[in-house]
Amino acid sequence: MADPDREMLSCREGFRTIWLAQNGDVRIIDQRKLPHDYVIANLETWQDGCLAISDMLVRGAPLIGATAAYSLYLAARSGGRAEFDRASAALAESRPTAVNLRWAIDRVSRRASACSDAELTASTLSEAGAICDEDVDISLAIGRHGLELIRSIAAAKAGEPVNVLTHCNAGALATLNYGTATAPVYLAHDENIPVHVWVDETRPRNQGSQLTAYELAHNGVPHTLIVDNAGGHLMQHGMVDLVITGTDRTTRSGDVANKIGTYLKALAARDNAVPFYVALPSTTIDWTIDDGVRDIPIEERDPAEVTDVYGVSGEDRRTVRTIGSRTPALNFAFDVTPARLVTGLITERGIAPASREGLAALFPERADGTQANA
Ligand code: MRU
Repeated sequence: MADPDREMLSCREGFRTIWLAQNGDVRIIDQRKLPHDYVIANLETWQDGCLAISDMLVRGAPLIGATAAYSLYLAARSGGRAEFDRASAALAESRPTAVNLRWAIDRVSRRASACSDAELTASTLSEAGAICDEDVDISLAIGRHGLELIRSIAAAKAGEPVNVLTHCNAGALATLNYGTATAPVYLAHDENIPVHVWVDETRPRNQGSQLTAYELAHNGVPHTLIVDNAGGHLMQHGMVDLVITGTDRTTRSGDVANKIGTYLKALAARDNAVPFYVALPSTTIDWTIDDGVRDIPIEERDPAEVTDVYGVSGEDRRTVRTIGSRTPALNFAFDVTPARLVTGLITERGIAPASREGLAALFPERADGTQANA
């Protein structure tokens, strides 16, 4: 296997977005620097992990959860149970919307309470590793179910590419590998099914143009960057066969919170009879809530993300302000798409209707909400 410290690997080469260094520290890709620079960041302490989540060196719901899990191991390593408890309280506050964060903290905490003090570091490390390994399997399972959708559209298109529109980055970089929304695309591409991705730029942080486009290019998948406002026009002209996005939190009734602007894509898809699917690991389902608009906390981030843009100019990397200094900006990071606009939820166990009954049929052991974060 190639050295993960040196290059972004293709999905097929066992790429991971977070890994253990030989000295026991944790390594991540500093995603703020992509696509211009591939920079590895070292996490030595749980505080490093917490900052990596809140400053978005790592982002995407599954990777946020995995980073929290590894941060708890770093806390156990440096200061035993007392530090572990301090870390879990702080990590839980590091970003509000992705429920995988709380899920991962709960899971590692359960493992921690079942082991002795002497075992704490090894047990938390092994649980973090298990979360990561399972995430890869989950993404592949999502990919296989979503692939069926792409296959059936391809069958009707007689060799013409299947055009998939996606928003934000629910790709390999948001998970451990393969992604959620991108997993069906990668598997279709591997099978030589002609597939092409419309990549929404995804202002303000440009996860589409800077991350999704980067990883699709790296994996040789045909794609085209569009501005966030273009999707409706493309749908009106028959240029989108299918929308697939990710989600940061899905209610048990099938409402989905995802990157700001997802809701508008769902509205345009409905108006144009374009199927709108959301791909998700079950770790993203919040079994305790029904009404996403009312109950999902929506992160509000620094307005500077709206007013300023990061990029390159010659050899320089720069952040530049794009608007006048007297104009205020508001920056909600996510919005909620109601279940009624979602054609289906692509999970690791199959494709469910976006409804309480649909999710309960696939995950009967979780549906009563009592095992909320098992
Ligand atoms: O703010 P981000 O970059 O963490 O937002 C990420 C998204 O909205 C993704 O679409 C979502 O987490 C799904 S990742 C598989």
